[in-house]
Amino acid sequence: MKYLKVMKEEDLPIGKSAIIRAGEEEVALFNYKGRLYAIANKCLHKGAPLGEGRIEEGVIICPQHEWRYNLETGYCMQNPEMKTRVFPVKVQNRHIYVGGLFKDDSNKALGKAPSKIPDSIKFKIDTIRKPINPEETL
Ligand code: FES
Repeated sequence: MKYLKVMKEEDLPIGKSAIIRAGEEEVALFNYKGRLYAIANKCLHKGAPLGEGRIEEGVIICPQHEWRYNLETGYCMQNPEMKTRVFPVKVQNRHIYVGGLFKDDSNKALGKAPSKIPDSIKFKIDTIRKPINPEETL
């Protein structure tokens, strides 16, 4: 898999997020508790930027209507049949690299947006950290 150098490690401290663009891809990058995650920046619901959302216990919450995605797997918590794209991240020579940005069938978004979220789904998770988007540092 090819990796693309996207930014300096020091520009994404713990608790921060960034939105990166590579060709047609827009990816939200997070430093959550010292671990880096990359997920497609477009919410599967109505396309809001996930990079502007907040994280609760490893789950990114869309800033628009609060759809939730597992940061590691991309699975939607409201509908486990839906999955957005996630990308492998590594650090080398103090730079952050993101993989899977090029055409790869094994990394597709799955499922179709349901017309409405079931009312029975409720979430009770304490907020741990709200990342701030440091786009200006890119
Ligand atoms: S656009 Fe993300 S939940 Fe609606």
